[in-house]
Amino acid sequence: MARTGNKRVFAQYPASSFPFEKEQDMRTRVTELLGIEVPIIQGAMAWVADGRLAAAVSEAGGLGVIAAGSAPIAWVEEQIGIARSLTTKPLGVNVMLMSPQAAEVAALLARLRVEVVTTGAGSPSAFIEDWKAAGCKVVPVVASSALAKRMERAGADAVIAEGCEAGGHIGELTTMVLVPAVCEAVSIPVIAAGGIADGRGLLAAFTLGAEAVQMGTRFLTIEECGISDAYKERVLVAKDSDTVVTGRGSGHPVRGLKNAFARKARVLESDPSLDPDELESLYAGSLRRAVQGDVENGSLMAGQVACLVHERKDARHVIEGLMAKAQQLAACDLDALADANAFHGQAY
Ligand SMILES: Cc1cc2nc3c(=O)[nH]c(=O)nc-3n(C[C@H](O)[C@H](O)[C@H](O)COP(=O)(O)O)c2cc1C
Repeated sequence: MARTGNKRVFAQYPASSFPFEKEQDMRTRVTELLGIEVPIIQGAMAWVADGRLAAAVSEAGGLGVIAAGSAPIAWVEEQIGIARSLTTKPLGVNVMLMSPQAAEVAALLARLRVEVVTTGAGSPSAFIEDWKAAGCKVVPVVASSALAKRMERAGADAVIAEGCEAGGHIGELTTMVLVPAVCEAVSIPVIAAGGIADGRGLLAAFTLGAEAVQMGTRFLTIEECGISDAYKERVLVAKDSDTVVTGRGSGHPVRGLKNAFARKARVLESDPSLDPDELESLYAGSLRRAVQGDVENGSLMAGQVACLVHERKDARHVIEGLMAKAQQLAACDLDALADANAFHGQAY
């Protein structure tokens, strides 16, 4: 396609036009496996991803995921009920394996026969058999190809390969390297996460071999996300150098936006004489504080890609815009891609 011709095609999709024109479907093994319409998963986010957010994403055709985090079991059950009252489409729930309640949450999800279980921060091998027996699809998050292989052997249906650009708990490898490495290591489908927030990122992930993407940071600012306005505002104004990793010393690195909490954590972490309890009390409840509006003393978990998030629109707007943009880029010749990306404002 000629460059000028391509520009003409692109002009049909200015950043702000809605509803977006639907082109062909993007069906993959992941959309078939999870019973969803578009290959987009909303990443679990502890204290953030509740039943309302998950239902909005599922209703828009993606997969919404409730984050169990370390919340009480009754809260998790209540949120599943809320989501079920808002959508009949498939729903996911994430088990944070570091939580002392992980086994209880795991049993709840099998009892309720939740369609999709995702897991974070560790290996869910001990629970996979029960989930599969209950008919749940099991999709662990992995940060290395070695863990991806173990998960495939343990019976996982797919894996989420999450690069260290991501918000929240992270590994060491970047999405750019991890996704193709995991694709080479396993034959189950791979979902890419970390640093993806628009159609450019989705198409890039597909080029690396992924068959769906998981996004967390992009969904932090949408209308249906219940975090404080102050937290959303920090994400919206973030620049590319505004995230920092804390917790490396404790073996649990976490990416978030720079603020007083992060500065204090970094200073304490670098003090060899520090009493570990002091750090522990700084971390305790820190994400929840930010979610509730204390954006200086709370942990503002967000990924590097916050610098590409500029809008507060709803889940449907984000998903439809992103799919239209990815499909438009996919139709371009390589030499036309640069032109197709030449615009300013919110990219979809
Ligand atoms: C505030 C926040 C909380 C998160 N909590 C969890 C969690 O409880 N469990 C989990 O598996 N991943 C968690 N994540 C990771 C996301 O599910 C997702 O994989 C990640 O955000 C993708 O990278 P991105 O932020 O660049 O989109 C969290 C991320 C954020 C930003």
